[in-house]
Amino acid sequence: MQFQLSDEQEMIRKMVRDFSEKEVAPTAAERDEEERFDRGIFDQMAELGLTGIPWPEEYGGIGADYLSYVIAVEELSRVCASTGVTLSAHISLCSWPIYTFGTEEQKQQFLRPLAEGAKLGAYALSEPGSGSDAAGMKTTAVKDGDDYVLNGSKVWITNGGEADLYIVFALTDPEKKHKGCTAFILEKGMDGFTMGKKEKKLGIRSSPTLEIIMDNVRVPKENRLGEEGEGFKIAMQTLDGGRNGIAAQAVGIAQGALDAAAGYAKERKQFGKPIGQMQGIAFKLADMAVKVEASRLLTYQAAWCESAGVPYGMASAMSKLFAGDSAMEVTVEAVQVFGGYGYTKDYPVERYMRDAKITQIYEGTNEIQRVVISKMLLQE
Ligand code: CAA
Ligand code: FAD
Repeated sequence: MQFQLSDEQEMIRKMVRDFSEKEVAPTAAERDEEERFDRGIFDQMAELGLTGIPWPEEYGGIGADYLSYVIAVEELSRVCASTGVTLSAHISLCSWPIYTFGTEEQKQQFLRPLAEGAKLGAYALSEPGSGSDAAGMKTTAVKDGDDYVLNGSKVWITNGGEADLYIVFALTDPEKKHKGCTAFILEKGMDGFTMGKKEKKLGIRSSPTLEIIMDNVRVPKENRLGEEGEGFKIAMQTLDGGRNGIAAQAVGIAQGALDAAAGYAKERKQFGKPIGQMQGIAFKLADMAVKVEASRLLTYQAAWCESAGVPYGMASAMSKLFAGDSAMEVTVEAVQVFGGYGYTKDYPVERYMRDAKITQIYEGTNEIQRVVISKMLLQE
C-alpha cells in the first residue's frame, strides 16, 4: 500500500491551494450572501487546467488521475464549497459520461471544450416527482426522422443556466420504464430549451441550482449519448464516480472548518487561558480531526480504485456517506468551538455548516447510499 501522494499530486494540491486562497476565498462570503455565481473563477480554473484534470491531452485535458481531481475539489471546497461543486458537476457528471460513452466525434465536439473550460457542463436526472427514485422520471424523447423531440422538466440542476452543455435523461420507450431511458447532450440555446426557477438555498448559495424545461426541443441523433435504452445505466455509472467528488467536497468543507476552529481555539481566551487548553474543546478538535482524516482516506481510496480500473461504486458510496455525515458533525462542532461568534457571519464556520448539509442530500441522499451499499453487500 502507498499512502504518499506522488510529486504530481502534491504539485496539484499546492497549485489549487494557492489559487483557492488567493482567488476564491476572498469573495466566498460575499458570493454566498449575494447568491452570485462567478464565471470568472471558472475561467481561471480553465487557465490552470483544472477543468480537464483527468482527461487525456488529445481531448483538451491535462492527463492527471482521479486522485488529483478529488484533491482539487477538496482544496476548492476548503475555502468555498460552491466552487468545489461547480468543478465536480462539470467533470464527474457532464464530462465523464461523454468521455466514457461518447463517440470520437462527440469527444472532439463536446468533451474538448468542456476540458478546456470553454464550456461549462451540467447533469440533469432529477425531476419534480422523481429524486431518489430516479427511474420514475417522466421526461420523454420521441424519435422524429433524424431527431428526437424532448418534453419535460428537470429540477435542481447544478450549474443550471450558466452551463453550456447538459446531459439529460429521457424516456424513449416509457413502457419499458428505466430500460427505455436514453441519455442526450443538450446545448444551451436550443429552441424550446429554457431555464425555470432558480432555487434560494440554505447553503452552496453561489452555486446556481435551476429547473430546466424542455418544450418540444429538437435534438439531433448525433447528440444522443450511447444507445437507446442505455440511459439509466449511464446515469447510474456516472453517479458511481460523481459521489466521490461530493465526498471530496465534504472533506474540504470539514477541513476548512477544522482549521478555523483550531486557529480560534489557540487565540480565544476564557478563564485566563486559550480555550484550546480546556480538555472539553481539545477533545472536540481531536474527534473532528479523526473524522476528517478517515473521510479523506475513504475518498482517496475510491479515487485510486477508479484510476486503477478497480470497481469503485461501493467505495464511492461509502466515501460520500461517511464524508458527508462527518462534514455535518465537524462543522456543527466548529460553530460550537467559536461560541456565539460562530453563529455570526463574522467568521466562516456558519457558512461551512450550511454548506455541509447538502453533501448528505445530493448525488443520492445518504439513505440512498445505504441502499446502494447494502444492495451490493447482500449481492456478494
Ligand atoms: N451501474 C450500472 N448499472 C446500475 C447501477 C450502477 N451503479 N445501479 C443500478 N444499475 C442498473 C441495475 O443493474 C438494473 O439494471 P437491469 O434492470 O438491466 O437489471 C437497473 O439499473 C435498475 O437497478 P435497481 O433496480 O437497483 O434500481 P432502482 O430503481 O431500485 O434505483 C437507486 C436504484 C440506487 C436507488 C437509484 O435510483 C439512485 O441512485 N437514486 C438516487 C438518484 C441520485 O443519486 N440522483 C443524483 C442526481 S445528480 C445530483 O444530485 C448532482 C449534484 O449533486 C451536483
Ligand atoms: P426524495 O427522493 O423525495 O427523498 C425524501 C426523503 O426520503 C430523503 O430523506 C430520502 O433519503 C428519503 N428516501 C427516499 N427513498 C428512500 C429509500 N428507498 N430508503 C430510505 N429513505 C428514502 N439532481 C440532478 O439531477 N442534477 C443536479 O445537478 C442536482 N443538483 C442538486 C443541487 C442541489 C442544491 C440539490 C438540493 C439537489 C440537487 N439534485 C440534482 C437533486 C438531488 O440529487 C435530489 O434532491 C436527491 O437525489 C433527493 O431527491 P429528492 O430531493 O426528490 O428527495
